Amino acid sequence: MKRRVAILISGRGSNMAALIEAAKTADFPAEIALVVSNRADAAGLARAKAAGVATALIESKPFGKDRAAFERALQSSLDQHRIELICLGGFMRLFTADFTRHWSGRMLNIHPSLLPSFPGLDPHGQALRAGVRISGATVHFVTAETDAGPIVVQGAVPVSDHDTTETLSERILEIEHRIYPEALRLLATGKIRLEQDRCRIEASATSGNFLISPTAS
Ligand code: GAR
Repeated sequence: MKRRVAILISGRGSNMAALIEAAKTADFPAEIALVVSNRADAAGLARAKAAGVATALIESKPFGKDRAAFERALQSSLDQHRIELICLGGFMRLFTADFTRHWSGRMLNIHPSLLPSFPGLDPHGQALRAGVRISGATVHFVTAETDAGPIVVQGAVPVSDHDTTETLSERILEIEHRIYPEALRLLATGKIRLEQDRCRIEASATSGNFLISPTAS
């Protein structure tokens, strides 16, 4: 049985699209059963509808600072669609500790940096200002602390002196679209174990590749 997944978005939804695409494969262990947006103007909503995925708009703005009330509305939609796992894809709303506890070990997020470096806002700008030569993206479990949960999969890209936040975010986005389906596959097949604050992956193999940046000539 495929695991029933909801993707939560607030904007463009390119990671959502990558997950929907991956889930079309017959042997993918999860199906995208619902896309929820907390913003009416999220471009990803139309993309999800065009892909034939059920969508729900639960605007967070009317709830103001009452996060728990927003989460009750969200949870009821998730229950209605019998959702088992959640993937956040550019979902720009913080959760209460209660909500993250309820979904502990069942909710993933993607962040465009090699966590624990550069959590929070403007990770690409943070990476450029720090002058790192390698950056990337991280899929991690969601916990009460923002961008700090157990790491599932990471992908790395080189950073050059000519990069701008635009060029770097484009390069990182490509790797995001590759690692998010992989992380969901691992979670949905039960190959992941949470041990305190660490995520252990059953029979995990390293890619066997090195990424060195810059390369010496
Ligand atoms: C992605 O780059 C994602 O990693 C980032 O928002 C973008 C959403 O793009 N998420 C965060 O920064 C979370 N802290 P998308 O809507 O095209 O998937």
